[in-house]
Amino acid sequence: MHPTIRPRRLRQSPALRRMTAETRLHAADLVLPMFVREGTPEALPIQSMPGVVQHSLDSLRRAVADAAEAGVGGVMLFGVPETRDAIGTGATDPDGILNVATRAVVAEVGDALVVQTDLCLDEFTDHGHCGVLDVNGRVDNDATLERYRDMALAQADAGSVLLGLSGMMDGQVAAVRQALDSVGHLDTAVLAYSAKYASVFYGPFREAVDSQLSGDRRTYQQDPANRREGLYEARLDLEQGADVLMVKPAMSYLDVLSDVAAMSDVPVWAYQVSGEYSMIEAAAANGWIDRRRAIEESVVSIRRAGADAVLTYWATEIAGWLR
Ligand code: PBG
Repeated sequence: MHPTIRPRRLRQSPALRRMTAETRLHAADLVLPMFVREGTPEALPIQSMPGVVQHSLDSLRRAVADAAEAGVGGVMLFGVPETRDAIGTGATDPDGILNVATRAVVAEVGDALVVQTDLCLDEFTDHGHCGVLDVNGRVDNDATLERYRDMALAQADAGSVLLGLSGMMDGQVAAVRQALDSVGHLDTAVLAYSAKYASVFYGPFREAVDSQLSGDRRTYQQDPANRREGLYEARLDLEQGADVLMVKPAMSYLDVLSDVAAMSDVPVWAYQVSGEYSMIEAAAANGWIDRRRAIEESVVSIRRAGADAVLTYWATEIAGWLR
């Protein structure tokens, strides 16, 4: 007995496999997250993220130029300030590191790629939370919205094209949109981290930004157990005028990503976060996994699940492979 239907036919050669691939990577669909540290004369390694650094302004400019040269679609900037306070003053100060870095990057690459900024207070507060605290030490949603509005204006003034709202405060998209529009920043776009989960996979990022957090973010980021809630958050962000939605982390949340991609009217992106990066790097460093194939498979899987673009710390390297 011989089968008449043979799916293996299309898998028999690299040429056939290449022609029938349903998902492809393209450099333009990759966004490189980058850290820039105030006051450092040169880039500093991040122990838990081998190959990723806290940039100086100079090394940042060079790395962004490299990313643009490789064809990477965009960069997402995170600031690491020298001093912090309760309300994250450095985030709204035009001379704060993130705003200074944004101006430097825009001056360096202009429109060659999409310059994006993380809009959240956690890197700038001395308690490490994504918002300001009330008298009882709880994250105060509506007081935080006021800070986000100011932060949005500072970032738009600095030249950020797309603001990455990662704080998970209720109503943050509408608040920022209204603030931007009220001063004429009509073209500054909003990337809403819609379904952002309280994930252990952000662990290495805490070192990357010298996070001051003790405790966790479970009163504002979502419970990893919740799929329907991810869709609800995405719908709320669409209603508030988000230009792009995001699901984060990526690999453990491909079901949520697929759901959001199926319902969204706007592009849906996913963030392959620090822990996802470090796990593959660590396994590869031990010889337990093929590094390049693991990187490619992980990012292709995120695209296959529905991400139009992927934030990944390997963006420039992958773009180089794709040439
Ligand atoms: C918040 C923010 C975080 C990450 C991106 N934006 C940290 C957090 O929510 O705890 C994590 C990214 C990563 O782990 O790579 N500003």
